[in-house]
Amino acid sequence: METALWHPFSDMATVSEHEFVIDRGEDVWVYDTDGNRYLDGTAGLWYANAGHGRAAIADAVAAQMRKLAGYSIFGDFANEPARALAERLSGLAPMPDAKVFLTTGGGESIDTAVKIARRYHVAQGEPGRVHVISRAQSYHGTNGIGTGVAGIEGNRAGFGELLPSASRVRYDSVEALREEILRVGPERVAAFLFEPVIGAGGVLLPPEGYVEGVVRVCREFGVLAIADSVICGFGRLGTWFGVERWGVEPDLITFAKGVTSGYLPLGGVIAHGRVAEPFFARPGNSLRHGATYSGHPTCCAAGLANLDVLEGEGLVGRGQALEGELASALEPLAAHPLVAEVRAGLGLLAAVELTPETLAALPSAVTELQLLARRQGVLLRPLGTALAVSPPLTVQPEQLRQIGTAFADGLDELRLKVESTVD
Ligand SMILES: Cc1ncc(COP(=O)(O)O)c(C=O)c1O
Repeated sequence: METALWHPFSDMATVSEHEFVIDRGEDVWVYDTDGNRYLDGTAGLWYANAGHGRAAIADAVAAQMRKLAGYSIFGDFANEPARALAERLSGLAPMPDAKVFLTTGGGESIDTAVKIARRYHVAQGEPGRVHVISRAQSYHGTNGIGTGVAGIEGNRAGFGELLPSASRVRYDSVEALREEILRVGPERVAAFLFEPVIGAGGVLLPPEGYVEGVVRVCREFGVLAIADSVICGFGRLGTWFGVERWGVEPDLITFAKGVTSGYLPLGGVIAHGRVAEPFFARPGNSLRHGATYSGHPTCCAAGLANLDVLEGEGLVGRGQALEGELASALEPLAAHPLVAEVRAGLGLLAAVELTPETLAALPSAVTELQLLARRQGVLLRPLGTALAVSPPLTVQPEQLRQIGTAFADGLDELRLKVESTVD
């Protein structure tokens, strides 16, 4: 039967009668409605960092709902979970005197961060700074601004111009950023957006010196450096916000996903004390921005309970401790004739890229490989020409090897199919 549910980023003509219905989850495992068990190699959509089925988070959410399910924080209103979460994140942030603006997800956080950046420059007497630079292949969500800066071309196409005064640079060159700032004119550039490791655009690791280099160039020209840590945060790279791996101090950090491990929708922006200062210290300079559910007490309670789990079980460091194990499990695949490249080794995320010849012979190869691995009980995530892995931080080394085996067996089966299309 055709579903009434319109799936995001999906070809409904194909999917509408073939939904894969997930029913329940427990740690690194999820189960479909027929009771089949799968190793969740992707942590949902890169978010189930603490794993599925945590009773402590569910209990905290239920208790908060009974006490005060929702209340806005506009004006002087506040609630204890929102205050506590902001305090805690400010303390964990790698910037001094950090202030935290709460949202309901990553895309809303991107829009918030860019609007804060532009208004910061207005407050500093530089209203001409409106231009936003992002990286080719970057993904910053699907809200208006996030779509307007998208580095994955297909995600911008067909929507018209959503952010006038935006441009993209190569994802692997500090010099390209410097040249673009000079081309646009530093007095017109508000911000540079970067994912420490590009996620949805293919798991692209930054070249040596890149992250430090771009932050330095931003400082040189008075451009705000916005680290989009929506995927890279909360342990995915082995630290709270990912950027600590390079010792840099961004002006703004966007976060979402792992802050609640996906138990409820929540995101936010962390502002360096210097960037927040004009808003906090100067009366009459309010940020006319915010959504109904900003600071939602129940979502914040989920965030606090999730941080307790991540901290209490020492999960954050596992994103780095296991990066070698994940790389070892996947690197042998690089020798497979269908594989162009394995990208792994920085954090608990990786991608296996298929060769252009494979994709030319069988355009559906990525989806087919995803289905072959699923049949072996392992969930992988298609990313254009590659398949990604980003399991919960609770994953065990033998489960990483199981992911490698599912890939290898799937690739062998896929090879037979590719060869039959070539004959
Ligand atoms: C780096 C990055 N930024 C922003 C977003 C958007 O987050 P959301 O889907 O919660 O709006 C995502 C989502 O995958 C992301 O990976």
